[in-house]
Amino acid sequence: MEKREFEGFNKDEYVPIMKDESMSFLSKLCAENKPKRILEIGTYIGYSASVMLSSCEALVVTLEKVKENAELARKNLEPFKDRVKVVECDAGEYIEREDIGKFDLIFLDGPKGQYINYLPYLKRMLNKNGLLVADNVYFHGLVKNGGFVKHKLRTLVVNLRKFLEAISCDDDFDTTVYDFGDGLSVSRKKV
Ligand SMILES: C[S@@+](CC[C@H](N)C(=O)[O-])C[C@H]1O[C@@H](n2cnc3c(N)ncnc32)[C@H](O)[C@@H]1O
Repeated sequence: MEKREFEGFNKDEYVPIMKDESMSFLSKLCAENKPKRILEIGTYIGYSASVMLSSCEALVVTLEKVKENAELARKNLEPFKDRVKVVECDAGEYIEREDIGKFDLIFLDGPKGQYINYLPYLKRMLNKNGLLVADNVYFHGLVKNGGFVKHKLRTLVVNLRKFLEAISCDDDFDTTVYDFGDGLSVSRKKV
């Protein structure tokens, strides 16, 4: 289904949906790696979940904090209802509290400042050879540039830098960070 056909998609407003180039890449990753179970953090209205569901046969668990988004996503993902579970929750509390098993691919696209805090939980939830994919890791260039960052974005940018350093220095991961879109990291868990 096209993005603009999604309920809740307004082409005239900014919508926090992954950029097309990153979305094609994610779709290819799913098609090539054939994950059986995928966890997504940050559903919004379900577009990236639909791309992943269309690209492989995985079961997808996707977490979304905002009730209206979760409801729209359930409607938009109706064609995949046997393979997808949209959970309305705070992702951090949920992954800390719930035992939802292991995953072959985790797509991180929720609160950017929290990636570093989620990382230890997500690492434990990944199967061997599983992929951790994180979007917006360069956050409009602010993470990479090292220039002036407005006060209200400073913690987010610092935390994204910590996240990039953690995944790049962890010997259990093989990490590549791609420049396209808003910066996309892909870390394969070796153990
Ligand atoms: C960038 S959007 C996700 C876009 C979606 N992955 C796509 O490309 O179609 C981020 C989403 O994360 C949600 N979110 C923000 N903080 C969250 C949290 N703590 N727990 C769960 N979801 C959260 C937001 O409400 C928003 O819908």
